[in-house]
Amino acid sequence: MAIQTIGVIGAGQMGNGIAHVFALRGFNVVMQDINSDFVAKGLATIGKNLQRGVDKGKMKPEEKDAVLSRILTTTSIEDFKNVDFAVEAATEKWEIKQQLFQTLDRVCKPGVILASNTSSISITKLAAATKRPEAIIGMHFMNPVPVMQLIEIIRGLATSDATFKTVMELSAQLGKTPLACNDSPGFISNRVLLPMINEAIYALYEGVAGVESIDGIMKLGMNHPMGPLTLADFIGLDTCLFILNVLHEGLGDPKYRPCPLLKKLVDAGWHGKKSGRGFYDYSGEKPAPAL
Ligand code: CAA
Repeated sequence: MAIQTIGVIGAGQMGNGIAHVFALRGFNVVMQDINSDFVAKGLATIGKNLQRGVDKGKMKPEEKDAVLSRILTTTSIEDFKNVDFAVEAATEKWEIKQQLFQTLDRVCKPGVILASNTSSISITKLAAATKRPEAIIGMHFMNPVPVMQLIEIIRGLATSDATFKTVMELSAQLGKTPLACNDSPGFISNRVLLPMINEAIYALYEGVAGVESIDGIMKLGMNHPMGPLTLADFIGLDTCLFILNVLHEGLGDPKYRPCPLLKKLVDAGWHGKKSGRGFYDYSGEKPAPAL
């Protein structure tokens, strides 16, 4: 079955980025979220991000309009009945994803692959919630999706070779580099990234250095594009805490224990860039250390 139309669940940071890259590569997209404000905001973000290319002369305004015209928005998953492929990028909560996969399984045509952009929830467990476990796979995009080269492809226990091959080819069609791993807590990306971020937070918590020093040392010293605390704010501190808890519980090793300071910031509602405050305060011209 040729894949032409993609259903994307979620119009947030990851969902709108995924819709963006599929539409950019000529696919038709149906982007769904739970209310019309969310989908309108997601579509506006895609427009804004495409405009960056127009402003730099890398894209013609009519190309931007053509990309946007390929994206339909909806608040109903029932509109996925004709999609050829679906990617879920909803909130990282097991109950929400379980229900979404059951709905996708009921609505989507037989044989349609259902991918999840989850950063840490078990693909094997998601597959078991459906009647098509062989067609369930992890397709973990990196933020910001239009810029980042990697898609981490996660095979659940029941994922078929045919599903895997299709998703590897589809990822390459997006101009991305798909790299595979097996289903395990945090996969590879977050199993390696989050302990580094957590350690940076412990260093701050223990007074080893301040926010700017920790970020500067890691950015300049390791040639990372962002320091770990800036990156934590960028990912979202609630998401960082969620992933660390998945690693801690899933692997049972105390080395993944989330730093109490991270828990405190999340409890305060300081969730990073998206909430205007995390390790930095984003209310001014330039982010300023908030701790
Ligand atoms: N959409 C489209 N284009 C974007 C964009 C977006 N959201 N954000 C940035 N860009 C483009 C810019 O237009 C610019 O394009 P050109 O090269 O054509 O000029 C380019 O990206 C670089 O952007 P900037 O010059 O504005 O800023 P920068 O050089 O500081 O780069 C960054 C910004 C790409 C975000 C860079 O800081 C970076 O790579 N940071 C690390 C990101 C990272 O680690 N992501 C992974 C997070 S972990 C994750 O996603 C997984 C998980 O499960 C938690």
